[in-house]
Amino acid sequence: MLNKFYTDALGMKRYLQDLTRMAAQISHRYPHMSVLEVGAGTGGATKVILRELDNAFGSYCYTDISTGFFNEAKETFRAHKAKMTFKALDIEKDIVEQGFEEQSYDLLIANLDVHATKNLEHTMRNLRRLVKPGGYLLLLEIKDNNPLRFGFILGGVPGWWLGHDDGRIMSPCVNIPAWNEVMRKTGFAGVDSATGHVETCPLSVMITQAVDDRIRSMREPLLSPNLPEISKTTLTIVEGTGTKSSQLT
Ligand SMILES: C[S@@+](CC[C@H](N)C(=O)[O-])C[C@H]1O[C@@H](n2cnc3c(N)ncnc32)[C@H](O)[C@@H]1O
Repeated sequence: MLNKFYTDALGMKRYLQDLTRMAAQISHRYPHMSVLEVGAGTGGATKVILRELDNAFGSYCYTDISTGFFNEAKETFRAHKAKMTFKALDIEKDIVEQGFEEQSYDLLIANLDVHATKNLEHTMRNLRRLVKPGGYLLLLEIKDNNPLRFGFILGGVPGWWLGHDDGRIMSPCVNIPAWNEVMRKTGFAGVDSATGHVETCPLSVMITQAVDDRIRSMREPLLSPNLPEISKTTLTIVEGTGTKSSQLT
């Protein structure tokens, strides 16, 4: 029943579509990207995503804390066999100790699993280590705790309460400003984009870019301490009408 819940519950089709559309936009630009999905479980999101990406990705690493899902997943995704790997990954534990290389993925996908961890900041730091600077983390999360149905349905599952000591007492889920804050603390840019709010469907797809000094200076050249480095080379300034570009000029 829970497997069905994650694909067929009210609003889920639309959220998976949003998640997929964002993944497809990234793959349109980076058709050789290496993708890693965390907590892929029964592959509810993977099915939709792979259908949409078609062949526009270099590799897809399908992970979950439990390897129990992999035999069936290998069968389900046999058409993509050449590009897929299946590996155990606990996002609460050190990624290198689990056999993963740091900064080796262009896109991480996490569909409804990051909230089910003890400490969001710790988990996000682990995820940040997996992704290359400039790469992206795509998250589907419950961002509004007002509708009670999630707590009623999932409150009997111990994982729902893991965030208790992290201050997530009545529910493990947090709102978009809180995600933004934790992203910014952990080497991501913050919520770069999030799908809008519909009253009955309190979930959101968020995307954030993994940043380091180089990526920060590309995103915000005017705030960058590296700007003098750039100006040593020939620089063409295309001026707009806004204050930001006139300051730069
Ligand atoms: C709510 S389900 C997500 C549904 C799944 N993404 C899908 O589309 O079918 C949560 C998944 O996260 C996995 N999970 C739970 N804790 C995890 C952890 N610490 N690290 C990695 N995966 C975890 C569970 O085994 C489960 O498959």
